[in-house]
Amino acid sequence: MATFTLPANSKITGKGQAFSNKTGGRTKKFKVYRYDPDSGENPRYDTFDIDLDDCGPMVLDALIKMKSEQDSTLTFRRSCREGICGSCSMNINGRNGLACTTAIEDCKGEVRITPLPHMDVIKDLVPDFSHFYAQYASIRPWLQTVTPVPSGKERLQSPADRAKLDGLYECILCACCSTSCPSYWWNSDKFLGPAILLQAYRWLADSRDEMTGERLDELEDPFRLYRCHTIMNCANVCPKGLNPARAIAEIKKMQVERHV
Ligand code: SF4
Ligand code: SF4
Ligand code: FES
Repeated sequence: MATFTLPANSKITGKGQAFSNKTGGRTKKFKVYRYDPDSGENPRYDTFDIDLDDCGPMVLDALIKMKSEQDSTLTFRRSCREGICGSCSMNINGRNGLACTTAIEDCKGEVRITPLPHMDVIKDLVPDFSHFYAQYASIRPWLQTVTPVPSGKERLQSPADRAKLDGLYECILCACCSTSCPSYWWNSDKFLGPAILLQAYRWLADSRDEMTGERLDELEDPFRLYRCHTIMNCANVCPKGLNPARAIAEIKKMQVERHV
């Protein structure tokens, strides 16, 4: 069995700071992962007591309250606050999700918040997406064609062909799925993972794209595609209700069909 030794400065040690804005109303305790590589110190958990009667309903509301009222150095990503930009993905009580669409009242007991698993941490809850985005670029996520379209005309698609993109185009690239996939944890250097493979299928399924053969050639590799073992964590965790495992199965089917 493989054993792993974590670098000494990655282990969570020491007592974190405790912040409180209790006002006697309903309070909820949040345990938040803190890490600042520039400090040379190991990661720690800080605890924040939040007055729920003076806080919005979502986990992101609580994080914003911690940052604006208790510790302005707390670092996390967010933008849209409505599950569209994908930037507030993190691990909440052991499950990957979006902080802006996760209700505090759905979190049982003390709420433990950590960055997405198995990604390098830049600071606190901010993981490094460089590798994930490089993998995304590698599948050429745009329409590729060779047939010219006469000037003034558009590349048309029937409603039935457009419907084939439903369940694919909605992906917000939050990486909740890829960072919950055990195959991606162990082989993310070579396996593209569920998010990127769902995107790869989004272009394979597009009736207007003319690079299907080339796209499939790129994916025909023991690691890039075939490291998926249908564990289904990806579909279980996707905050948009998508099913990357099904998209991966469709790519595998296309690979088989083109060789018969
Ligand atoms: S179904 Fe495949 S991609 Fe999804 S979690 Fe499992 S191994 Fe990973
Ligand atoms: S498939 Fe779902 S979980 Fe994965 S990146 Fe897209 S939106 Fe996020
Ligand atoms: S802030 Fe945009 S998805 Fe959460």
